[in-house]
Amino acid sequence: MKEQNKKKIFPDDFQWGVATSAFQLEGSPYADWATWDPCLSKNPLITDHYNLFREDLKLLKELGVNAYRFSLEWSRIQPRDYIWDEEAIAHYQEVINILRSYHIEPMVTLHHFTHPRWFMERHPWHRTASIEKFLRYTEMMVSTLKGVKYWITFNEPYVILLGGYLEGCTPPGLRDVSRSLVALKNIFTCHGKAYDIIHQYVPDAQVSVAHNMSVFAPWKKWNPFDRVLKKTANYFYNHSIIHAFKTGIFIVKFPFSRPVEIDVPIKDKLDFFGVNYYTRIHLRFNPFKKMGVELRHMDIDGHGLTNLGWEIHPRGLEKVLRYASRLNLPLIITENGIASHDTEEKVKYMKKHVDVVEKCLRDGLDVKGYYYWTLIDNYEWLQGLDARFGLYRVDFATLERTPTYAATYYAYLIQSRSNM
Ligand code: BGC
Repeated sequence: MKEQNKKKIFPDDFQWGVATSAFQLEGSPYADWATWDPCLSKNPLITDHYNLFREDLKLLKELGVNAYRFSLEWSRIQPRDYIWDEEAIAHYQEVINILRSYHIEPMVTLHHFTHPRWFMERHPWHRTASIEKFLRYTEMMVSTLKGVKYWITFNEPYVILLGGYLEGCTPPGLRDVSRSLVALKNIFTCHGKAYDIIHQYVPDAQVSVAHNMSVFAPWKKWNPFDRVLKKTANYFYNHSIIHAFKTGIFIVKFPFSRPVEIDVPIKDKLDFFGVNYYTRIHLRFNPFKKMGVELRHMDIDGHGLTNLGWEIHPRGLEKVLRYASRLNLPLIITENGIASHDTEEKVKYMKKHVDVVEKCLRDGLDVKGYYYWTLIDNYEWLQGLDARFGLYRVDFATLERTPTYAATYYAYLIQSRSNM
């Protein structure tokens, strides 16, 4: 009886997928990141997915997924301003065709952290010309590529800004609050306009961003400063984007100062909301740290920490999905996964998070899909090649792919939880 109830929870059209990004699998000689992280000089093609993609896509069939999220490497498509590489475009069209022939729904990300080098050198996000450049690329892709209904304009817009404009650890490497706000406005403007362009060419398109959401907690519950930080972080990271999509206004709110409102043309420019969820973060007020904040991961509930030291906190997925449901739109978990060498850990992580998705569906949340991050081991931003998020292990010396038990388990999960 229990088993029967379970089967009804995940609808037939629930998207069981995996997510990847182009650069993390295939690198690109034309991308800003190619020279940004010295670790890539030894393995510029990373897993060589750009050449081995046909074999890799067969793994999706093996898993039995019905959806696949991947990104286009903009720098391969437009290696120079005004030069479009027809072969690269044909390459991504072939990926789509293969997916369609496998009855796997493609979800295409236009921007997943990397840029053509010329773009980052001359038109980074805080310059107005960035808008026209990105939209030209968007229109070229949407008008050329056939067979794509699901589009993600930007992967994790806030992470682009935090890394590139506040921490300065990712391109363009700035630490400049006022430029970060200009960049934010430009990125949001691109999203709003890209939304219209995509719908112009693909009337039944489903468009979103993939937004990274985290659970925040005070380092010490009794400390009022830590509690204020938690509230501020939660407002900024999880809530402000939801507010901006609902109202077209982005509100910058720092403790003890007047909020600043920025108009952003994204009101209602969403068909679903893509949520990337990984972890919970504890925050401590520390006047000696950058912006007075210290972040820490603690193994509070005994689920453990990942290879990257992140707390495993499955309940948090429910929390962020509930926040996101304030948009009154379908939700898709566009990324969720664990960096671990231990395949048992991977299986536990996946099961616990899918259990939470099941609970959310039982409670009536409109969750339409779950995409595991990621298919095969890849390059992890600023962390090298050993994070091990993959369902398939990659030997980076021989490029051999080997299934882990997590791949077998995901195939089983999909079978057992869906109505097929
Ligand atoms: C990003 C991925 C990244 C993953 C693990 C997500 O925030 O979209 O590119 O590899 O997190 O860090």
